[in-house]
Amino acid sequence: MIKLHDLYFKPFITEREIAAAVERMVQEIAADLGDECPVFVGILNGSFMLVSDFVKKYPKPCEVTFIKLASYEGLKSTDDIQRLIGITQDLTGRTVVILEDIIDSGKTLAEVHRIFKDENVKELKIATLFFKPEAYKKDFKLHYVGIEIPDKFIVGYGLDYNGLGRDLPEVYQLKTTQHMKNLVLFGPPGAGKGTQAEFLKTKYNLVHISTGDVFRFNIKNETALGMLAKSYMDKGELVPDQVTIDMLNAEVEKNTDANGFIFDGFPRTSAQAKALDDLMDTKDSEISAMIALEVDDEILVERLLERGKSSGRADDANEEVIRARIAEYYKKTAILKEYYSAQNKYIGVDGVGSISEITERLSKVIDGL
Ligand code: IMP
Ligand code: MG
Repeated sequence: MIKLHDLYFKPFITEREIAAAVERMVQEIAADLGDECPVFVGILNGSFMLVSDFVKKYPKPCEVTFIKLASYEGLKSTDDIQRLIGITQDLTGRTVVILEDIIDSGKTLAEVHRIFKDENVKELKIATLFFKPEAYKKDFKLHYVGIEIPDKFIVGYGLDYNGLGRDLPEVYQLKTTQHMKNLVLFGPPGAGKGTQAEFLKTKYNLVHISTGDVFRFNIKNETALGMLAKSYMDKGELVPDQVTIDMLNAEVEKNTDANGFIFDGFPRTSAQAKALDDLMDTKDSEISAMIALEVDDEILVERLLERGKSSGRADDANEEVIRARIAEYYKKTAILKEYYSAQNKYIGVDGVGSISEITERLSKVIDGL
């Protein structure tokens, strides 16, 4: 992933794929033009890299020149195309091949046709390395197309985002979701995970996805996924991971403008962790970190016994039960600690101290992500 100005881009087309596409275009054009000595006209700025690579590979004599047009502002093609440098030589009777980096709406191409209308060239052919068919609104024939791409903004290999990215030898695509902070939050019973999740959610505008809540919501509202999950639960079977993932996906989809998510209660196995990675990948995003609150067992026991006195929660009142729950937690999370450590994403945070001290520690970690 790369960042240009304020935006994040992901790898999209490799140097090799570009070279292969350029090679194909060279072969096709050389075969069509035979012994004709063409004039290749690059459209500046974007086409400089293509023109350079293209003519180096072109097997026969040719001429090279440029015209300079400007239309794009930021991420959008504008109606107003400026001619900054026009044709500077007589092209009467010549075979001209336009070399474009990319054809998007086709407005620039329309301007090219206007420019050549009175030039009395023998033939005008259009070649473009990249083409966005879904965005193209004109009828001009494109004689040679290197690679068709979806209607998403790209940078690299001559193409820029507000001036940056032209120098990259490969092509990157704008990420559909920008940089998110997606946390998997863990803590043994009594560590204060719920309290901290509430703080973090507000402070960082994150969406808290508690798997337990998501299940209850889906079952209560009798959604298709809720009913499916319930059918397994009624038979006393485990709900398949895919059903849970589909529910989480629905939650993520509802909140695509969030700054990120706090996953709570999921994943519990490495298969689920992998499924969550895959889910985030489909959103052009990723899990940033597994954050685990670390609190010494004795302190947890003390805290829970204290809580048991006032809350009346039966499972908080019995020391043996408490110790068993804590042991269970470590047994279950060990595998996840391993999974996220392998990706350098496990972060343990000292969970002993006042609520605000712990929030402070967590904030430091999250700010650093
Ligand atoms: P069109 O006039 O809409 O076809 O756009 C053509 C010009 O817009 C290209 O020559 C580029 O300069 C610019 N452009 C179009 N799509 C992209 C893109 O995805 N990334 C960067 N520049 C683009
Ligand atoms: Mg261009």
